[in-house]
Amino acid sequence: MKIFVVGANGRVAQALIKNLVQQHHQIVAGARSPEKVTKNHNVIPVKIDLHDDIETLSKIIINVDVIYFVAGSRSKDLLQTDAFGALKVMEVARINQIPRFIMLSSAFSLEPQKWHNPAMASLLDYNIAKFFADNYLVNQTSLNYTILQATALTETTGTHKISINEEAQAKNSIQNVAETLAEIINHDQTIKQVIKMSDGNTAISEALESIK
Ligand SMILES: NC(=O)c1ccc[n+]([C@@H]2O[C@H](COP(=O)([O-])OP(=O)(O)OC[C@H]3O[C@@H](n4cnc5c(N)ncnc54)[C@H](OP(=O)(O)O)[C@@H]3O)[C@@H](O)[C@H]2O)c1
Repeated sequence: MKIFVVGANGRVAQALIKNLVQQHHQIVAGARSPEKVTKNHNVIPVKIDLHDDIETLSKIIINVDVIYFVAGSRSKDLLQTDAFGALKVMEVARINQIPRFIMLSSAFSLEPQKWHNPAMASLLDYNIAKFFADNYLVNQTSLNYTILQATALTETTGTHKISINEEAQAKNSIQNVAETLAEIINHDQTIKQVIKMSDGNTAISEALESIK
């Protein structure tokens, strides 16, 4: 497949692209600094800035089968990047008829009742931005979305084993998140699903296969 990755120089994105290349997909790596994208003959770097308008973005994200949204502003630009940037990419997916849309999100993005937990207080604005984007994806588009809600990211070595949904624990290795994102496109039962994940004890493919 031909796959567009939005935010291609991010930590998750770089690991995701490696996994997708291993699956023999062709990647269009959308980044603000395309010259920094790791060179590979199956990866085409392109410049993209989520501040651009929909018309501009629709000329960049085109002729692909799948979009991954793995960009984020580290809370520095939540409205324009994490919230409205994501929404503009969804609109581009609609305009350019790219129905498969995979969003990397956070564990409680669609559960505002959990944001008042003191441990999550510092993430309030971030959660609101992710809520805006995820809620739009689920309720205002007809895209074949999958939202992967990861708990906190760590730079530990991937175990290739995860827990999903009710079993989700506190942390994720970036490698496990990237591998799970890459595997999602091989499991059609992940379409129109919001999946919470963390490191765990079940092989990634088996965990995704168990989704009903
Ligand atoms: N950190 C956590 O614990 C956690 C937990 C769950 C989910 N998440 C989600 O996972 C996402 C990815 O995490 P990560 O660690 O891979 O993030 P990261 O390393 O900060 O990567 C984010 C990427 O987004 C790009 N970006 C930022 N603003 C942009 C814009 N206006 N236009 C285009 N690209 C833009 C950045 O580009 P530059 O390289 O040019 O700066 C960067 O490459 C986060 O954004 C967050 O939503 C994070």
